[in-house]
Amino acid sequence: MRCADANDDAEGETMLQLGDTAPDFEAQTTEGPIRFHEWIEGSWAVLFSHPKDFTPVCTTELGAVARLKPEFDRRGVKVIGLSVDPLPDHKAWAGDIAETQGHALNFPLIADSDRRISDLYGMIHPNASDTLTVRSVYVIGPDKTLKLSLTYPASTGRNFAEILRVIDSLQLTAEHSVATPADWRQGEDVIIVPSLGDDEARRRFPDGWKTLKPYLRIVSQPGRR
Ligand code: BEZ
Repeated sequence: MRCADANDDAEGETMLQLGDTAPDFEAQTTEGPIRFHEWIEGSWAVLFSHPKDFTPVCTTELGAVARLKPEFDRRGVKVIGLSVDPLPDHKAWAGDIAETQGHALNFPLIADSDRRISDLYGMIHPNASDTLTVRSVYVIGPDKTLKLSLTYPASTGRNFAEILRVIDSLQLTAEHSVATPADWRQGEDVIIVPSLGDDEARRRFPDGWKTLKPYLRIVSQPGRR
């Protein structure tokens, strides 16, 4: 028997951590079968779970993501949902989403009725519910590693504008070696990552920056969209 480790859950399953490769899987979706890593295909990706089909909060969330799809596209991010019900239920539910939210599903929804993928990703938290997933969000980079994970309870709908904001921050870090301060919004000043020395910073930011402390160097947001 393996000893429990700090990143094990109550069942002794190893939990997914930032920097880990997002597990690959095959799935049936509303847009046909996929293999996850092939589907990501060098893009950024968001995988997010829903406790159950035909539930009110999930219905509003899927409508919200359909409405925001152009914003994910603009950032080169593919989105994919997951719910623990079979494909025919997803297809019937899609009609309700279009009717009540004014936005039809425009991204794939995984049918995980055997909870294989939910278990693989640790989306079921048995002390919250044995059968329903929590509201998990995974942001995955083009290198297929996990960049962000969020867990919300079933009763709280997620703020997808916040997820877009985090993606903007992650992409700025990947492209420009900057980090973003508390409550940062697009266009506001950012922080030069501590691992970048002043010599390299001068090359990257020739217009200069403001040093509040040697470890706190503020610079205008580079490469504004
Ligand atoms: C909902 O999506 O509305 C929901 C799902 C499971 C538990 C509570 C709410």
